[in-house]
Amino acid sequence: VSNLYETILAEIVDDGRVGIITINRPEVLNALSTQVMDELADVLQELDADPRVKAIILTGSGKKAFAAGADIKEMRDQEFVTAYLGRLLSGYERATSECRTPIIAAVNGYALGGGCELAMMCDIILAGENAVFGQPETNLGVIPGMGGTQRLIRAVGKSRAMEMILSGAHFIDAEEAVSRGLASRVITGGPEKLIEAAIDLAKQIARLSGPVVAMAKEAVNSANDLGLSEGVKKENLFFSACFGLYDQKEGMSAFLEKRKARFENR
Ligand code: CAA
Repeated sequence: VSNLYETILAEIVDDGRVGIITINRPEVLNALSTQVMDELADVLQELDADPRVKAIILTGSGKKAFAAGADIKEMRDQEFVTAYLGRLLSGYERATSECRTPIIAAVNGYALGGGCELAMMCDIILAGENAVFGQPETNLGVIPGMGGTQRLIRAVGKSRAMEMILSGAHFIDAEEAVSRGLASRVITGGPEKLIEAAIDLAKQIARLSGPVVAMAKEAVNSANDLGLSEGVKKENLFFSACFGLYDQKEGMSAFLEKRKARFENR
């Protein structure tokens, strides 16, 4: 990976199969500045374009935060026109939605405002035991601006999402996040254990066929965008497309021959 980034750290592990992106502004609890947005977009594009990279982990540096929201200092002097025509903060949505490689958010500490919204843009959330999810934007005189009003309701239901967004308070801890389906698992034992668990999960995904995993991701994401029958049709098209892959023949042959499959991403 390019090492020219200033606000993020990026590395590749597991023989090139797993990318790890760390938002690296611990002094401001990894607040999401425009530079973070631009660098994250670049690195996601770089990792997504690398055929060796099969899964990406996104986390925050330090022990306290995944990201405590969009950078309030940077936003204070925005006006309606600059926010609207400048598409303030919309680069995160573009960058994550265009990424075909699965993204795992490893949430260590605060995921507030844009931080919670960024985590929800990822495909899987693993919550460290100190994870805190919240949408405190109304305290600042704004509403959530990176998808929170749309994604939180899908993740935790209307009443809880409304309570959090309208009050700007009543945050969700790791256990509640899992019980409501916002996060998939709580990982105890501190930030190192959280990253270890994220890498283990990424490695499991990385063993599989890249195109199959990418189609599965796109099909699941369609559930949010399409009605049931259109979504099922799209799934069926992707399912049928799998039979055009070498990896389908290999996967099924390996099962029948009682051996481990060797996927080739084709
Ligand atoms: N933007 C800019 N700076 C931030 C920040 C943010 N979102 N969050 C924290 N910081 C800075 C603080 O200003 C502070 O800097 P200084 O040391 O220079 O004073 C530093 O990070 C450490 O923060 P605290 O001293 O506040 O740490 P704490 O442990 O006392 O509190 C916290 C932690 C409860 C998370 C508190 O920092 C906080 O409430 N942060 C703001 C959370 C927030 O409102 N997020 C939403 C932002 S708006 C948004 O995201 C819009 C959107 O929808 C996209």
